[in-house]
Amino acid sequence: MNDSIFDPQKYSNTRLPIEEASPLPAEVYTSRQWYDKEMETIFLKEWLQVTRLEEIPNVGDYVRIDIAGEPLIVIRGEDDVVRTLSAVCRHRAAELASGNGNCKVLVCPYHAWSYSLKGQLIGTPSMEEAKCFDKSEYNLPGFRTEIWAGFVFVNFDNNAMPLLECLGNLPKRFADYNMQDMVVTRKWENRFNANWKIWVENSREGYHVRTVHRESLDTYYPGAVNSKFDAEGKPGVYAINSSDNENGLYVPRNKTLPFVQGLSEYDQERTHFMVFYPHLLMNLPPDRITFHQYFPEGPEWTRIVTWCCFPKATVELEEFEREAEEKYYPPMALFIKEDKDICEVVHRGIASRYARPSRYSPREEQTVYEFSNYVLDHGIGPIET
Ligand code: FES
Ligand SMILES: [Fe+2]
Repeated sequence: MNDSIFDPQKYSNTRLPIEEASPLPAEVYTSRQWYDKEMETIFLKEWLQVTRLEEIPNVGDYVRIDIAGEPLIVIRGEDDVVRTLSAVCRHRAAELASGNGNCKVLVCPYHAWSYSLKGQLIGTPSMEEAKCFDKSEYNLPGFRTEIWAGFVFVNFDNNAMPLLECLGNLPKRFADYNMQDMVVTRKWENRFNANWKIWVENSREGYHVRTVHRESLDTYYPGAVNSKFDAEGKPGVYAINSSDNENGLYVPRNKTLPFVQGLSEYDQERTHFMVFYPHLLMNLPPDRITFHQYFPEGPEWTRIVTWCCFPKATVELEEFEREAEEKYYPPMALFIKEDKDICEVVHRGIASRYARPSRYSPREEQTVYEFSNYVLDHGIGPIET
């Protein structure tokens, strides 16, 4: 075994069949070197969900976000096309905007260079004497932007497979949910003092629900059963089924808001849990969608944005606000806090010099095992056969 943190030998126990395998060693969660490798091999290569279309409905609407240390602006052009541009001014690199907003042109707050909604440099005050200065050489870089069911995704890699190909037959499987007709009604933003993978692993298993969420989710649904749906694209998808016909983990027992029209009986009885690596975790109960985006901010911090979207028809109901505020949002806020607290506890434990990987529960942690191996596939390369 050599000293390199990327020596595959170091991870051979995680590569074993799950009945024999160990979780990832601590340094995968704590080392800056490993983190940088993940940014390079995962976040700069895969489709990342950046916003929803209804967040930028009009020409000139934009959202500023940072992913993998890159300031980006997602903006709707005069041609109605949604683009993702670098938000770094081509003059002396000031960030061009913050938050959400609307503009006719993007004007840099530093020296007022301005850019069209397509990112072309159009205004450069006091540059008349600059020799051989051709504005057209200083447009904002743009990144591939593709859309599925109202979700806007970006990819930094020009050679990446198209989004819909990566999604396999998932769009068809979830077509009945009409997610493109849903609208975001609530968002929660949190910053966790934990590595992003601790959050993903926590979100991928139901093992912790009966302990960590006994005050929130488990009051809806005691006992989760996993079943897998293979989307045949890039994502890993699984369902947690309701054993007691309570419509899955996410629907309050005293639910009053209607289910999405036209769902099969099977879907009405379940909450599906879908992950599209590396950046989107989505929950599909029969009445709405909730999803989490996570933004790694160094090995020890993760910013998580949680969204709740309901069908437009539901939002128009007279009782919507009251029901959502009383029965839907408070348990969401509570379970995010429960997950935040436990993830931070785990991160502190992992940093201990006595932390050693043990074993997975084959029954409960198959999805965590799969994710750990996804991380290794990118960090050290796939298993050689
Ligand atoms: S840095 Fe943007 S105009 Fe100077
Ligand atoms: Fe949880």
